Amino acid sequence: MNDKVFIFDTTLRDGEQVPGCRLNTEEKLVIARALENLGVDIIEAGFPISSPGDFEAVNRIAREIRNSTVCGLTRAVKKDIEVAAEALKPAAKPRIHTGIGTSDQHIFTKLRLDRDQVIERGVAAVKLAKTFVEDVEFYAEDAGRTDNVYLARVIEAVIAAGATVVNIPDTTGYCIPEEYGAKIKFLKENVKNIDKAIISTHCHNDLGMATANSLSGVSNGARQIECTVNGIGERAGNTSMEEVVMAMRKHNMLNFDTAIHTQKIYEISRLVSETMNMPVQPNKAIVGDNAFSHSSGIHQDGVIKSRDNYEIIDPAEVGVSESSIVLTARSGRAALFYRIQKLGHTLDHDALEVAYQAFLKKADTLQTVEDEHLEELLQVLKVA
Ligand code: KIV
Ligand code: ZN
Repeated sequence: MNDKVFIFDTTLRDGEQVPGCRLNTEEKLVIARALENLGVDIIEAGFPISSPGDFEAVNRIAREIRNSTVCGLTRAVKKDIEVAAEALKPAAKPRIHTGIGTSDQHIFTKLRLDRDQVIERGVAAVKLAKTFVEDVEFYAEDAGRTDNVYLARVIEAVIAAGATVVNIPDTTGYCIPEEYGAKIKFLKENVKNIDKAIISTHCHNDLGMATANSLSGVSNGARQIECTVNGIGERAGNTSMEEVVMAMRKHNMLNFDTAIHTQKIYEISRLVSETMNMPVQPNKAIVGDNAFSHSSGIHQDGVIKSRDNYEIIDPAEVGVSESSIVLTARSGRAALFYRIQKLGHTLDHDALEVAYQAFLKKADTLQTVEDEHLEELLQVLKVA
C-alpha cells in the first residue's frame, strides 16, 4: 500500500493571479467541477477578500463542490479571515489558508515587523480561523529563504495554536531539491508535535525546480503538494500537477501515490489552457503537443517496433488518444512506411525506396509532411 500524498490544487487562486488569466464565477465553477472529477483533494478556490467577484466565486464553489475540500486564502488579518469564513460557510469540507511572511527579507522589508511579532500574528490568525473552521492551513511565506531554526519556531507555534496543515512555500522559487528536502527534514526532526499536522509543499518554478523540489519535500516527510494544472502561476509558475502526479505514479519505488484519475489529465489541461487564455508550450511534459510525438528517424523506428523504446508513459494513461509519428526531413523509411500503411496503401521494397526519395525532396521544403502531401506524392508515383 502506497503512502497517500494529498493534491492541493491552486489553479483558481495562485494560477488565476497571472495577468490575462482572470476568470468569472461561471468559468471558475466549470474548472472547480473538473478538478473535483479529476480527484483533487483540496481546491483552493480563491482569495475571498480580494474582490466581490472572488468572494462570490469561492462562495458558489463552496456551495456546489461536495467531495473535495474547498479552501480560501487569507493574510494573517482579522477581516480577511472573517470574510473567507463567510464565503466558505456552505462548504461540506471548508479550509481556511492563512499565513504571513517568515523570511528576514519579508519580515523587515515588507512587513516592517520583528521575528517575534510575526509569530504572534501567525498564531492569532490560526486561532481566529479555528473559531470558524476545524481545518486551518498555515503558510510561512518565503519559507524557502527562511532560516530553518526560526522557521521551526514559527511552525511549532502555529501547530500549538491548532493548524492542521503547515505549508512551507518556496515563494520565490529559490531552493534546489537537496536544500528544500533538507528544510522539510529539519522541521520533521525539530518541531514538537509536527505529526499533528500535515506538511505541505508549495513550490514556484523560477529556477525550473518546482517539480523536483515538491518531490524532494515528499521524500523527506511532506504529504501534501500544492500545484496547478499546466504549472501556471506567478512569474515562472507553480509546481505542475500533471508532472508530480505522473512522477509518483511512474516511480512506484517512491511508494507514494495520489487519488488523481490520470486519464482526465489531458482534458483538464486543455480546459484550463482555453479558459485561462494560457497556451501550453509544445514541449511541456505530459500535456504539451509534442509530449507523445516522435519525429526523428531513429526514435520513430524504435517506437514503431515497441512504444516502450522511447515512451515512459502510455498516452492513454493521461487521456491522450495515441502517440504520433510526425513526418519531417529527419524521418526514416520505417516512419514513412508506417504512415503510408495507415492511409491504407501497401508498398513493396522497391516502391518504398522510390517513395522515400520523393518524400525527402518534399520534406526538405516543408516543416512537416501531412497526409494530403503523402496522398499527392503516391498519386504521382501511381501507388494504389
Ligand atoms: O507562494 C506563496 O508563498 C503563496 C502563499 C500565499 C501560499 O502563494
Ligand atoms: Zn504561491
